[in-house]
Amino acid sequence: MNAAAPPSPYARIGSDPPIRALADRFYDLLQSDPAYADLRAIHAAGLGPVRHGLTRFLVGWLGGPRDWFKRGTCIMSLHRAFPITPTLADQWATAMACAIAGAEDIDPAMAEALGHMARGMINVGLDSGAGRGA
Ligand code: HEM
Repeated sequence: MNAAAPPSPYARIGSDPPIRALADRFYDLLQSDPAYADLRAIHAAGLGPVRHGLTRFLVGWLGGPRDWFKRGTCIMSLHRAFPITPTLADQWATAMACAIAGAEDIDPAMAEALGHMARGMINVGLDSGAGRGA
């Protein structure tokens, strides 16, 4: 039989290490580039736990081991605890797109999908600064 399922994005990327490297590039950017200062400011002083959390989330989301998801936490509910403005969501999506652009083995379509997810988390200020001038 030759009916094997196609490899998951997780397998194609090369399992955990490139995903960990992506999460590290993302948080390194937050730490070093002033363009992401607002986003950096709402994170804890130490980024170790969130580097780990984003890695494990992405591993499961891409079709690898689902330990992060087995905690029973929903990524959208978790972010409702933070006031997420369009500016913060843009900073997140842009930093992630830059981190992905630095990885030859990661499909740029992933940046688009994660950018949509980030914009779906906006929970503050959707109407402000939208061009009405009021
Ligand atoms: C929309 C803009 C976003 C903002 C402003 C934001 C902000 C935050 C903040 C403040 C934390 C807590 C960090 C800490 O305690 O140091 C966090 C954690 C986290 N974020 Fe986001 N985030 C955004 C989008 C996303 C997206 C799109 C994803 C997934 C694709 C994501 C995945 C995570 C994960 C996995 C954690 C760690 C949670 C855990 O493992 O407990 N975030 N985020």
